[in-house]
Amino acid sequence: MCGIFGVVGHRPAGPILLEGLKKLEYRGYDSCGIASVSEGKLHVRKGIGKIDEVEQRHGLSGVPGTVALSHSRWATHGGVTDQNAHPHTDCAGRIAIVHNGIIENFQELKRELHQKGHRIASQTDTELIAHLLEEFPGSLETKMAQAAARIRGSFALLAVSTEEPHKMVALRCESPLVIGIGSDAIYAASDVMPFLEHTDQAIFLEDHEMAVITPGAVSFENVRTRSSVNKKPRTLQWTAEQAGKEGHPHFMIKEILEQPAAIQNAMRQDPDKLEKFVQLIRNSRDVKFVACGTSRHAALVGRYAINRLAGKTAEVYIASEFSYFADQSTPDTLIIAVSQSGETADVLVGLRKAKAKGAKVASIVNVVGSSIDRESDASLSLNCGPEIAVASTKAFTAQLVVLYVVAHALAGKSAEGTAALKQVAAHAADLMPQWNETTRALAASWTEHEHVYFLGRGVNFPVALEGALKLKEISYIHAEGMPAGELKHGTLALIETHTPVVLLNPHDYTFVDTLSNGSETKARGARLIGVSDRSNEAYDAYIPLPQVAELFYPLVSVLPLQLLAYHAAVLRGHDVDRPRNLAKSVTVR
Ligand code: AGP
Repeated sequence: MCGIFGVVGHRPAGPILLEGLKKLEYRGYDSCGIASVSEGKLHVRKGIGKIDEVEQRHGLSGVPGTVALSHSRWATHGGVTDQNAHPHTDCAGRIAIVHNGIIENFQELKRELHQKGHRIASQTDTELIAHLLEEFPGSLETKMAQAAARIRGSFALLAVSTEEPHKMVALRCESPLVIGIGSDAIYAASDVMPFLEHTDQAIFLEDHEMAVITPGAVSFENVRTRSSVNKKPRTLQWTAEQAGKEGHPHFMIKEILEQPAAIQNAMRQDPDKLEKFVQLIRNSRDVKFVACGTSRHAALVGRYAINRLAGKTAEVYIASEFSYFADQSTPDTLIIAVSQSGETADVLVGLRKAKAKGAKVASIVNVVGSSIDRESDASLSLNCGPEIAVASTKAFTAQLVVLYVVAHALAGKSAEGTAALKQVAAHAADLMPQWNETTRALAASWTEHEHVYFLGRGVNFPVALEGALKLKEISYIHAEGMPAGELKHGTLALIETHTPVVLLNPHDYTFVDTLSNGSETKARGARLIGVSDRSNEAYDAYIPLPQVAELFYPLVSVLPLQLLAYHAAVLRGHDVDRPRNLAKSVTVR
C-alpha cells in the first residue's frame, strides 16, 4: 500500500527523500509528495503520477530543510488527484502529515471537524488527522497521542510541525513502521528499503508505539499508557546492492534470473528454527495455511508436500476469507502464515483472531522483523533478498523451497530433500537462458490474445494458478488457472479457435489425465502449449522441463511461466514493475 519515509538530520532532506521514495514506490504510485520544515514554514510539494514525473513538475528534491517527510500513494479514500496526494496539512498550515493505512471512523471525524470549522481540502481520510492534531494543545507527541485515541483503523503516521521545527513524530498502529538509525540522520519508513543505503541499524515499532525523533536522538513511548519504551536496534541482513536493478531493465527480470541462487539460499535454514517449526506441525491436529495471492499458491504446493511426504493433512485458506473461520481455532490449531512482505493485513488479521482463540502461529516470510515474523511462535525466512517487483517471482520459489524443506524434515527425509533441491537449482540455472528465448518468442505470438487458460492437476494445479496470476497482473491479459479436470464443467465453453491453453503436464502421476484434458481443448480449436519434460505431438508449442522428482515439478515449471508473463507485458508496453492498480505490500483489508 502507501509508502512513507521521513528524515531528521543535518543534510538537505529533499535528495535523501527523493531517492528513498523511489525505493518505496512499489508500495503505491498513484501520486507522491514531500513536506519539509524550514525557516518557520512548511514547504509542501506534491502531485499525481510516478515519482520521476512529479519530481520534474514540482522539484520534490528541492524542498528546503533537513527535517522532512514524504509519501508514495496507493489510493484508498479519494481519487487520484493532486489534492488527494500526501502530505496533508492542517488549516493553519503548521502541521504536515503522511499516512499509510485506513481510518475507519473518518466519516464521524469529518463531520465533527467540519462542525468545528476546519477547512478540509481533500477527500482523503488522512487530512482529517492533520486537523485533529490541530485540535489538541501541547507538544507534537502529546497532540499525536491524543489524536491516536480518537482514530480507529490501521495507520502508520509521520508528522512535522513548524512549532517544533527540529522534530518528527512517528506512530504505528497496525501498519508497518521502522526507524533507521544512521550516523548523521534518523529515518522513519514503511520498510527498510529507503534507508538501507544509509544504515543497517533498524528499530521496528510495535502497535501503539510512537517514536519522537530529533537530530541525533530518538525516544519511544506507548501512546496508550504514555510510558516510555526501551527499544534496541537490530542489524539488517539485506544490503543496498541487493535492492538495485544491477543492469537489468526491470526488477522483475532481475528477480526471475536470480532464482537458481534463491533456491540454494532458501534451503539454508537454521536447524533449531526448523526443528521448532516442524514440532509445531507435529503437535497440532489442525493445520491451516493462511496466505494471499502468490503466497497462497505456494501454500497449496506446501499442503501437497506435507501430505505426500509426511501424511499430515492441512487446509489452505485465502487470508481475507479466513477471518470468517478464525473463531473456530483452538489450542490444537496451527496457523502457517506464508507471506513475502510479512505485512499483509488480511493474513495478520486472521492470525491474530486465531491466536486469540489459543492457536499457535508458524510463519514463512521474506522480511525478517516484519509484523507476521514478530507475531509468530516460530518463523522461517526465505533468505532471497529484497523482492521489489510487484509481481512476486523469487519469493514464490523460495517459499516452495522452504515448504519442501519443512515437509522433508517432518518426514525425517531432510537429506533426500536437500539433494533433490540442489539438483533442481542446477537444472534451473542450465535451462534459464533457453526458457528466456522460448518464452519471448511465444509471448510475441500472444500480444493479440485477450484470454489464456492454464491447466494442471495435483501438485501442478497451483502452478496453473500462479502462471495465470502472473500473466494477468502485469500483461493485463485475462487468464484463468484451473484444475485440468474441472474445465469440462463449464469453462470449456470459452475455448475457441486459437485460444492459448498452457498445459502443466510433466510425466508424473497427473500426466495421462492432464494430456487428455488438453486434447479436449485442442479438439475445440485451442492452441496447446505443453510445459513438460517430454514433447508430445498434441502440443502446438512446447516449453521443456528438466526431469525432476514428481513433487518438485512446480519449482521448475513456474520459471518459464514467469518469463512468459514478463515478456508478454514488455511486448504490450506495460510498466512491468509497477502494474496498474496494484501495490506490493497490501497493508489494508
Ligand atoms: C503476486 O505477484 C502478488 N503481487 C500478490 O498476489 C502477493 O503475492 C500477495 O499480495 C501476498 O503478498 P505477501 O506474500 O507479501 O503476503
